[in-house]
Amino acid sequence: MSYVIGIDLGTSAVKALLLDRSGCVAAEASRDYPLYHEHSGWSEQEPEDWVTGTLGALRELIETAGVPADAIEGISFSGQMHGLVLLNAAGEPVRRAILWNDTRTTAECREIEALVGQELLTVTRNPALEGFTLPKILWVRKHEPEAFAQAVSFLLPKDYVRYRLTGALHMDYSDAAGTLLLDVANKRWSSEVLEAVGLPASFAPALVESHALTGTLLPELAAAAGLSADTKVFAGGADNACGAIGSGILQEGLTMCSIGTSGVILSYEKDSANDFRGKVHFFNHGKENAFYAMGVTLAAGYSLSWFKNTFAKGESFNELLQGIENVKPGSKGLLFTPYLVGERTPHADSVIRGSFIGIDGSHERVHFARAVMEGITFSLNESVDLFRQAGKTVDTIISIGGGAQNPVWLQMQADIFNADVVSLENEQGPGLGAAMLAAYGCGWFESLEACAELFVKRASVYRPDPAAVDAYAGLFRIYQEVYQQTRSLNAGLQAYRN
Ligand code: XUL
Repeated sequence: MSYVIGIDLGTSAVKALLLDRSGCVAAEASRDYPLYHEHSGWSEQEPEDWVTGTLGALRELIETAGVPADAIEGISFSGQMHGLVLLNAAGEPVRRAILWNDTRTTAECREIEALVGQELLTVTRNPALEGFTLPKILWVRKHEPEAFAQAVSFLLPKDYVRYRLTGALHMDYSDAAGTLLLDVANKRWSSEVLEAVGLPASFAPALVESHALTGTLLPELAAAAGLSADTKVFAGGADNACGAIGSGILQEGLTMCSIGTSGVILSYEKDSANDFRGKVHFFNHGKENAFYAMGVTLAAGYSLSWFKNTFAKGESFNELLQGIENVKPGSKGLLFTPYLVGERTPHADSVIRGSFIGIDGSHERVHFARAVMEGITFSLNESVDLFRQAGKTVDTIISIGGGAQNPVWLQMQADIFNADVVSLENEQGPGLGAAMLAAYGCGWFESLEACAELFVKRASVYRPDPAAVDAYAGLFRIYQEVYQQTRSLNAGLQAYRN
């Protein structure tokens, strides 16, 4: 039997997944690592923690599976997007990585708009948002000139881990699309944008497809991971692209809802023709020459884990969510907006913060817990709404991530999105997509679609319940007003945050 490994380099942990040729999970292992929030709006990680965590997870994976190292043919990656790793000439990070959920770069976004102008949207297909990579590069250039002076190039998180494992510098199109430096339709670094912001072409690494072979493991790293140095290493993709591959979003008409730390609604695009004018993100897929459009809720799963860690420390999610099925849609008049770290879609706003609206003396913790889940889902529904307004049909949504682990939440998604929501058997999120890229790269399948036919198995369909759909439609209109009504209040509170 031969195997492939998918590594999902997430925001809170790295997960390694061992899959056999039939797509069955033979073993899994994970390692957590810390996040650093030194100031309000800052979010950083230590690149070395990703490498140590990945090697630890790989070692455990091989030990628990008990398979010979040379039976593992290939390995690939899914990575948290946008995070900036600046490298010096020796290939070492010059500072910690600045992550996708870091919102310190509002001034740099305005600077990029002024320097690049209209071409930003026509070439990179996305507006300047705090989470993207280019504003982070300009922030370091302005605020940490000594560190920036050492930097000769940059990588994204999973590219850095792959670089450490193979010694070769690459970036795949799906992740490069989230830097604001890629000409998305033409699949090349944009010399227009690089020149406008004053960065040399040499700053940007070589571009490759997600299934491209980027090398084999360096012998000492292979030994540390318990793998063979002959293991083929494939580029991998952005976590949302890999989530899409792992849920079979490989043709027009398919939509994904992924609730991890962030939450996304992602819709497949067969080419780059559809123009959403920056209202949703538009990126290259991990499937060659395909694309996707996507709306992002910054604090989706994070809102629920924040709530648990703050008000139910030490309890499991199951304990926290006990009884939510007995609370009617609307959580007895309690509404939550998940703007804990600002928001992306539809409000690109780093200043807005979350609210509980309608707190009543009769509310118990269970109402708050359900309100948090409803608020996250309403936020994602804003993206569903944008796709429908743009003329897309959204009638079937494949749900993955934490939001797909709970049947009450899956039914809530069907009722709020007013669409069929499909769960997957043995749902593994982006890690499965990463493993599929390795399987396809190894030549096990003639296409990603052929691989998906065997690896991606649908489990249940949750159909919208008309009464709940009606109730949620009314609540959604109220939810949408909360942003407008709390915007200036949050702008006033901003001065008190540090
Ligand atoms: C997408 C985004 C997040 C991260 C989470 O634009 O910022 O979904 O990819 O890892």
